[in-house]
Amino acid sequence: MRLLDRVAVITGGASGIGRAIADRFVEEGARVVIADLSAEAGARAADEINGAGSRGSAAHYAVDVSARDQVRHFATAVQERFGRIDVLINNAGVTRYRPFLEAASEDWNAVLDVDLKGVFFCAQAVAPAMVSQSYGKIVNIASVSGTGCSAHAAGGSPGGNAAYAAAKAGVIQLTKTLARELGPSGINVNCVAPGFFLTPLTGSTRTPEQVKEHVAARAGMAVLNRPGKVIELANSVLFLASDEASFIAGQTLFVDGGRTDRM
Ligand SMILES: NC(=O)c1ccc[n+]([C@@H]2O[C@H](COP(=O)([O-])OP(=O)(O)OC[C@H]3O[C@@H](n4cnc5c(N)ncnc54)[C@H](O)[C@@H]3O)[C@@H](O)[C@H]2O)c1
Repeated sequence: MRLLDRVAVITGGASGIGRAIADRFVEEGARVVIADLSAEAGARAADEINGAGSRGSAAHYAVDVSARDQVRHFATAVQERFGRIDVLINNAGVTRYRPFLEAASEDWNAVLDVDLKGVFFCAQAVAPAMVSQSYGKIVNIASVSGTGCSAHAAGGSPGGNAAYAAAKAGVIQLTKTLARELGPSGINVNCVAPGFFLTPLTGSTRTPEQVKEHVAARAGMAVLNRPGKVIELANSVLFLASDEASFIAGQTLFVDGGRTDRM
């Protein structure tokens, strides 16, 4: 087992990609801690995972990653309960499509607060435990939007994504600086940039017709000509969170089926 008894915090672990990561980690023996804004969804996910009979286990906490005090209290509670924190997956994310000329500062803040500041807050809250252990793995979830620039006012996307793209580009660069600062303490910090995966996020800002159009458009932009499966993303995150990736730091792994807008 690749994560046997490792304590692994997964933000946004109640849904979509985060839930797939939680499922995969538990199969590998991890003690997963889901930190999600939704207490109800977090509890449901933990119950389902614990009922599935894997070697690992799941606990859940209601946490808003954009609220620094909440994040700090959460990290302290996890350390008191489990005695250590081995892995942090910064996965919680939101999106808000707005044509650039119409975007309000409230739109910008809503996305940047969760997608970028949340990564900063969570890493800073969890890193002291990892430093004291001289061991830790942090994997940040960015996006192809952090480097590519695909059309977002067509193909089933209801508008521009300047805030999201800027936040995800920030996550890629933050990964490098954290890797540099925390690496000497035995902490590997890396990043995974997903392409297109069908999750609740896809439908959160689109009508069902736009989702269909978006799936077709995005599938056509990958050389593998299909959306990704969340298990394919989870396997990549597992690799970077495991000791198999012990000499990898500061890297961003694109799991995107070969996105032509980025190649
Ligand atoms: N789905 C894709 O195609 C895709 C592509 C590129 C990047 N990503 C990134 O992958 C990550 C997961 O996306 P997903 O598609 O699984 O989304 P999702 O909407 O299915 O899940 C996101 C989870 O994050 C939680 N969350 C939202 N705000 C939070 C907050 N402030 N604090 C704590 N939890 C919060 C939600 O409750 C939800 O459970 C995000 O960072 C997203 O930007 C997704």
